[in-house]
Amino acid sequence: LYYMKRFFRIALFLSAMVLHAQQGGMWIPSLLEGMNAKEMKTLGMKMSVTDIYNVNKSSLKDAAPHFNGGCSSEIISDRGLLLTNHHCGYGQIQEHSTLEHDYLEHGFWAKNLSEELPNKDLKVTFIVRIDDVTAQVLKGTESLNEQEKARRIEQNIAQVIKDASKEAWQEGTIKPFYYGNQYILFITETFKDVRLVGAPPSSIGKFGSDTDNWVWPRHTGDFSLFRVYADKNNRPAEYSKDNVPYRPKHFFPISLKGVKEDDFVMVFGYPGTTQEYLPAVAVEQIQNVINPARIGIRDVALKVQDEYMRKDQGIKIKYAAKFARIANYWKKWIGETKGLKKSDAVALKKQQEEKFAQTLQRTNKKAHYGQLLPQFAALYKEIEPYNLAYNLYSELMFRNVDLLSNAFRLLQLEQVLENKGVQSFESRKANFLKIFEGVFKDNDPQVDKAVFEKVIAFYAANMPKQLLIKSLQHFDAKQLADKLYANSSVTSYEGVARLLSLSPEEFKNQLKQDVAVQLALELSQMNDTQVYPTYERLDTQIQALQRTYMKAILELAKPSDRIFPDANSTLRVTYGKVAGYVPADGVTYSATTTLDGVMEKYVPGDYEFDVPARLRELYAKKDYGRYGTKDGKMPLCFLSTCHTTGGNSGSPAIDARGNLIGLNFDRVWEGTMSDIHYDPKICRNIMVDMRYVLFVIDKYAGAGYLVDEMKLVK
Ligand code: ARG
Ligand code: GLU
Repeated sequence: LYYMKRFFRIALFLSAMVLHAQQGGMWIPSLLEGMNAKEMKTLGMKMSVTDIYNVNKSSLKDAAPHFNGGCSSEIISDRGLLLTNHHCGYGQIQEHSTLEHDYLEHGFWAKNLSEELPNKDLKVTFIVRIDDVTAQVLKGTESLNEQEKARRIEQNIAQVIKDASKEAWQEGTIKPFYYGNQYILFITETFKDVRLVGAPPSSIGKFGSDTDNWVWPRHTGDFSLFRVYADKNNRPAEYSKDNVPYRPKHFFPISLKGVKEDDFVMVFGYPGTTQEYLPAVAVEQIQNVINPARIGIRDVALKVQDEYMRKDQGIKIKYAAKFARIANYWKKWIGETKGLKKSDAVALKKQQEEKFAQTLQRTNKKAHYGQLLPQFAALYKEIEPYNLAYNLYSELMFRNVDLLSNAFRLLQLEQVLENKGVQSFESRKANFLKIFEGVFKDNDPQVDKAVFEKVIAFYAANMPKQLLIKSLQHFDAKQLADKLYANSSVTSYEGVARLLSLSPEEFKNQLKQDVAVQLALELSQMNDTQVYPTYERLDTQIQALQRTYMKAILELAKPSDRIFPDANSTLRVTYGKVAGYVPADGVTYSATTTLDGVMEKYVPGDYEFDVPARLRELYAKKDYGRYGTKDGKMPLCFLSTCHTTGGNSGSPAIDARGNLIGLNFDRVWEGTMSDIHYDPKICRNIMVDMRYVLFVIDKYAGAGYLVDEMKLVK
């Protein structure tokens, strides 16, 4: 018995190790055969990988379109009903909202096809076929230098796309993978008539707002519904009232069975960018130099905004979206830095690099690749001040201070006048005025000034001294702010509009006299002459090294090393298990939440944590219909070990048999370093449970007719 026990313990230990190693990674759906297929089976998948991707018959990929280039989505009925996040459809919901019909505030539900709302500039793109075209793209490039090689690759890509077999309404694109060690062709179909069907109120779809953003435990019903329309032949078409609901090759059935710890989960979507193969020196730089700088500068900006927003309801409304935009990545970088430290990413990378060096020795590849790591070290050291300067400059000029970004825009317009002449200048004016109108709608000069004062002080204190402009070498931030905001025309819409109403000559003259424009000019000239050229030159060298480093990693790897390509906004499969985590010593998080948590967080009238009356009513009566659990709870969100990033918002979370169980919308804060280093212990993606989505549609909104259109699996 003892031996048996010990055997089991060892076996368990081994399988736990294997399972750990088996998570993370964003895989190409057409290349899952082999290692991935085996892992997915081990984790409990009951489909075969040809059910996920198949060119000869319908498969899951036919129901997972890219949503407007930035988010993911899925088709959930045979009439083109499409599900994505509330925060992905936010712009469209806002666009249709007026004071009388505020769909952000109250939600929106079309009662029939005729009430569905068309959207300008909204498209969804389906993938028809994925082909590896590496050989054709790299043909004839072997002996070329970097520049010639880039040009030849560009020509080859154009040729391959031209030659690819596709229908008249289809398109081809080729994307580099593994830093250009692999090229893949995507044949796609883009639908441009996509209509808004339903959205919950923000108090459900954005419940918890910025406070809960990136946070677990989570209680957000982050979903919205659209419908894809096609022409009479079921093909993509521009908007027309004669278009009809698209009949998809596949749509996801929705499971009502629910999830529990350890269940298989697969997420299928379009992750944007990751950097999983950086050398240790690069990770060190992000962790110790770049992140602290951009967190620090946003820190001071957000603190000022928050102070004013708390005191003044008008300012709160004006600054809500800007604050959310600045706070989203500010919060992400803080979590990322903590996670990198906690998981010892730099030390782990250094260990891997030592192994890499040893393997080179052993395999006689040292002559080929032996110089990579020392070269990385030298280049990253050299680029550090420029990288820091470039990041601080972007934050100062474009992210946090309206005065400077507006001044920069005016300088751009002056460039148009300079380079393209009066006619181009005149024809661009209207566009610029429109942009300024939008900016000043959400601007308060007092707040902008207070932000400027703190941000410019942070900037000057943290820039490498040799790259700091003269005007900021000895200065008083308060005095500078007073001077700029008292004398510049760029602090108000009227001021800017007046400048734009001048004759081209006068515009140029007065622009040069403006104190804020002068500062913006000095800053941008420093960047354009002293910072960016060097940054770009070194970065190009780093990218070339990274391509060679990636090639070496691929050559030396065994399949069990699980080398997946970094995210590049193409369709990927990631898989894992439903799992909670331990964010800190003594704290354990479970993998699921329920509506109980919404009521625990409820703050009447609060802009983040208010709960609509109808939802409170349903909660009080425990009126969950067929969507609640046997023990009377309403499930809300859940976690898994799937490896996701920005762009995966709206991705379907799929069970072992290909049914939809959840909708991806976020990651946990402690695990956001998964963009650089995935650690299965603390990296988790956050999904809203499909049962909650259906409950909100059916019981909360009374739109059960939409549920009737779906296929439910009990
Ligand atoms: N953190 C999520 C994602 O990057 C959701 C962002 C939208 N929500 C918000 N509260 N800002 O992008
Ligand atoms: N909210 C992100 C998005 O819009 C997904 C969260 C993440 O970065 O994983 O794509």
